[in-house]
Amino acid sequence: MTKKIVILPGDGIGPEIVAEAVKVLEAADNKFKLGLKFEEDLIGGAAIDQHGVPLANSTLEKCKAADAVLMGSVGGPKWDKLDAGIRPEKGLLKIRYEMGLFANLRPAILYPQLADASSLKPEIVAGLDILIVRELTGGIYFGEPRGIRLLENGERQGYNTYVYAEHEIERIGRIAFEMARKRGKKVCSVDKSNVLEVTVLWREIMQSLAKDYPDVELSHMYVDNAAMQLVRAPKQFDVIVTGNMFGDILSDTAAMLTGSIGMLPSASLSKDGCGLYEPVHGSAPDIAGQGIANPLATILSASMMLRYSLNETEAAHAIEVAVGKVLDKGLRSADIYSDGSTKVSTAEMGAAVVEALEAL
Ligand code: IPM
Ligand code: MG
Repeated sequence: MTKKIVILPGDGIGPEIVAEAVKVLEAADNKFKLGLKFEEDLIGGAAIDQHGVPLANSTLEKCKAADAVLMGSVGGPKWDKLDAGIRPEKGLLKIRYEMGLFANLRPAILYPQLADASSLKPEIVAGLDILIVRELTGGIYFGEPRGIRLLENGERQGYNTYVYAEHEIERIGRIAFEMARKRGKKVCSVDKSNVLEVTVLWREIMQSLAKDYPDVELSHMYVDNAAMQLVRAPKQFDVIVTGNMFGDILSDTAAMLTGSIGMLPSASLSKDGCGLYEPVHGSAPDIAGQGIANPLATILSASMMLRYSLNETEAAHAIEVAVGKVLDKGLRSADIYSDGSTKVSTAEMGAAVVEALEAL
């Protein structure tokens, strides 16, 4: 049976890194007979240039009908001056919302070969393996009302609304507990319940859910403390579950613990398993077109896609092993380069993963 994969390279380094991930997927397809069929389309600034909007409805329909979507990254200075409503980022937010991709999984794993690349001391990060479960279709990112309004005194006021309904908290909470069951059996729920009512409710729902998962230990942490603990003693965490905005911020911090944000993949899942897979990092316009970006986060996102949307565990694992072998050989893109290793381009890194995969 064929599996339809929509490829959305996007902007900046997106096309370069996605091209390498597609090569790796083609190699996995050959080796494991996955029956993948790729279809490419536009998102972000690339879609604005072509259609005037960051996500055309035809693209969205294609994605909804697919088995999974692999994305690069969106945004860049070229589109920074556009109205908030049609900025490249809106395309990403729309696809997440319209596809119901409420569960964003962002693993932060330190490859032992890269312990030196972290800005933290090796003993603080050695063996690090955290999973951030970020709610992705609610919270302050989507709450209404929102906007910039004119006050009676003539001054403008910006406003957003931070809202979570019980069912939104419950479904992301269940994902976190289920994930923890398959790992270290600990969930830390991050909130700001000393100040914000919406997270008082969040904490209450997490506590009631915990009764269904007696084998998983639940703890709670305020977001400011969580930010501090992530750089002080990150190994205390197993699964972190949090809302959309806190998850956005904490996942960048967690990414940097592993040496480079260029290494971290993500999966955004709906309730029926269709998903969008993208690197945690952005479009890096400053290095776009130079062939030096690290394609590993996107390649590892492709591996997550095989695991979570296509149920191809063996192929998914093989890609991860291949990435490990390439790092073992000392091959490094510029972001993870250190003395004594071999600096490679985006395409050379992709080719090395393909070669390692074929050799398995
Ligand atoms: C992310 C990004 C996005 C977000 C932006 C590009 C809209 O920072 O995926 O973490 O804020 O969710
Ligand atoms: Mg972010």
